Amino acid sequence: MTSASVADGSTLGDRVRRVHAQFPTGVMVVTTSVDGTPHGLAVNAFSSVSLDPPVVLFCVNKASRTHAHLYGAEWAAVNILSHRQLGVAKRFASSGNDKFAGLDWAPSPHGAPVVDGVSAWLEVELRLKIDASTHTIFTGQVHNATSAEVPPLVYLAPGLFDGARLLEATDHEEGKA
Ligand SMILES: Cc1cc2nc3c(=O)[nH]c(=O)nc-3n(C[C@H](O)[C@H](O)[C@H](O)COP(=O)(O)O)c2cc1C
Repeated sequence: MTSASVADGSTLGDRVRRVHAQFPTGVMVVTTSVDGTPHGLAVNAFSSVSLDPPVVLFCVNKASRTHAHLYGAEWAAVNILSHRQLGVAKRFASSGNDKFAGLDWAPSPHGAPVVDGVSAWLEVELRLKIDASTHTIFTGQVHNATSAEVPPLVYLAPGLFDGARLLEATDHEEGKA
């Protein structure tokens, strides 16, 4: 067995970016409400931690406006965007303004905004807030979970893709391209 090549002259940062560009994710809008005002941002750093108990995590840049609101919050919603919500993704990937203006949404049982038309959403009670340099890793205990039969939006850097048009993989000889 030969060892895998580790460097090609580019910076580690560039190589890490290219690695992440081989890892598709969904696009989530993480929301919370502070004194009745909704806040939220687009996130793709989201994962299930465990199913029993149901725990998830997401990572938020400390420089984002929403970070402080989430940091002080007890409840949040994770909205998994549908393939029809490219505009919602773009809206929540920008900073400032009123991202909820003209948007249809309703509060979750504990008040976190749930955006109309999402593929699925979770309501989480925020638990650990772990310092990770530029970001905070939030863990959340899931209290409510709802999904619709609507395909998701897919992020594969640098693009956003239609999850309704994915092709099932066919079998290739193991290890070969
Ligand atoms: C596809 C996509 C994924 C993103 N994932 C994250 C993420 O996981 N964590 C994060 O902090 N920002 C992420 N962002 C960037 C934020 O959405 C962006 O910085 C936003 O403007 C923050 O808004 P705010 O400053 O109003 O809170 C992502 C953006 C896009 C387009």
